[in-house]
Amino acid sequence: MKIALLGIGTVGSGVREQLSACADIEVRRVLVRREIPELGSLATRAIDDILGDARIDAVVEVMGGEHPALEYVLRALRAGKDVVTANKLMLSEHLEELLEAARAGGARLKIDASVGGGIPYLFNLARAARTGGMQSLFGIVNGTTNLILDTMQVEGADFADVLAQAQRAGYAEADPSADIDGGDARAKLCVAAAVGLGAILRPADVDVAGIRTIALGDVRLFQQMRRVCRLLVRADRLDGDHLAACVEPTLVLPGDLEAAVHRNDNLIGYVERSAGLQYFFGQGAGKSPTAFNVVMGLRDLIDGAIDPLGAPLRRAEVDNSHLVRRYYVRTSAPLGVQAERIGEVGGAPAYLTEPLSADGMHAHARDLRKADPQLFFAGVRA
Ligand code: HSE
Repeated sequence: MKIALLGIGTVGSGVREQLSACADIEVRRVLVRREIPELGSLATRAIDDILGDARIDAVVEVMGGEHPALEYVLRALRAGKDVVTANKLMLSEHLEELLEAARAGGARLKIDASVGGGIPYLFNLARAARTGGMQSLFGIVNGTTNLILDTMQVEGADFADVLAQAQRAGYAEADPSADIDGGDARAKLCVAAAVGLGAILRPADVDVAGIRTIALGDVRLFQQMRRVCRLLVRADRLDGDHLAACVEPTLVLPGDLEAAVHRNDNLIGYVERSAGLQYFFGQGAGKSPTAFNVVMGLRDLIDGAIDPLGAPLRRAEVDNSHLVRRYYVRTSAPLGVQAERIGEVGGAPAYLTEPLSADGMHAHARDLRKADPQLFFAGVRA
C-alpha cells in the first residue's frame, strides 16, 4: 500500500517511525506547512501533488483541526482514496458529509484512532454494537485533563504547570482550550455515539463543562469529601431518537474504577444488553499509542477488518432532563438553587446542591458565569 501523510506533527511523526518497520506500507508523500529538510523529496506543500497522484492508495490525515483537514479529506475520499484519520473534531462536526463523500468515491474512512489514543475502543464498540443492544457509553476520554486532575490531587500540583507538562508530552491539542473546556471529550463522545449507538448528534447540543476553573482548594475539599474528580463523558440510549449525552467533571468514589485512572490514561466503557458492563483502559493520548492506532487503521484497510462506521446512522436529539444528581458548585455569585454550604475556596463559597438534572445545572451554570466567570461545578456520583 502506498500512502501520503497529511501533517507530520506529534502523531504524524510517530506514524512515519512505526511505518519504517512495515515492508508493505510505503510513505510516498508528506504534506507539510513549512520546509522540513530531512523529508527531502517526500515533502510537499501542495495537496494536489497527493490527491492527483494515482499511485497513492490511502491518505493518513493527522494535521488535526477542522479546516483545511475537512476539505482535504473530502477531496481524497471523492477521489477514491481511503482515509485514516485521528481527527475527532472534524469527524464529530462533519460525519454525514464525510460518509457521503466516501460513498461517492467508493473509498473507506477509518477512524479508530480518533477516540482513546491507542485503545482499541471504537473497533470493539462497533463489533459489539452489531446486536443493536448497545445501551450506554461512558468514561474518561481526555488524557490531558486526566493528567491535570490526577497530578493536582496526588502531588498538589498547580494547574498551569501540569498543562504545560501535557503540552510538552504531546498530549494536549494545539489549542489546549479544547482539552480543558471539554470540547475534545465532547467530540470523542459524538464519534463514539455514532459508532456505538448509530446516532449522529450535533456537538453543540451536548451539555459540556470542563475543568478550566478548578482550583487546588476545590481538590482539597474533594479529598475532605473522600471524592476524586475526573472529567467524564456519557451517552445513554433513550426511547426513539433521543440520547442523554453530556461531558462534565464528576466526583467519583475512591473505590470507583475511574479514581484509579492516573496520568494520561483513559478508561472507556459501554453497556450492551447481553455483554453488560465492559471497560477498555490504556494510554489515551500521546505520540506512540495514537500512531499505533493509526497504523492499525491502515492494517485494517489491507486486511478488510470490521468498519466502525459500517452500520446505518440516523440523527438524534439530546435530552438530559433525566440525568439527575447532586452537584458541587463553587461560586461567588448567589447560587439560586437549594444547596448545603460545605466550605470555601479562595473566598468563594462551595455548595452541594439538591439533585438537579444535567440540562438544568448546565443552563444555570451558564447564567451564573456571567456574574462569576471563575465558577466551577462537578456532578457528584451517588
Ligand atoms: N488532546 C487529546 C487528549 C489527545 O489529551 O486526550 C488525544 O486525543
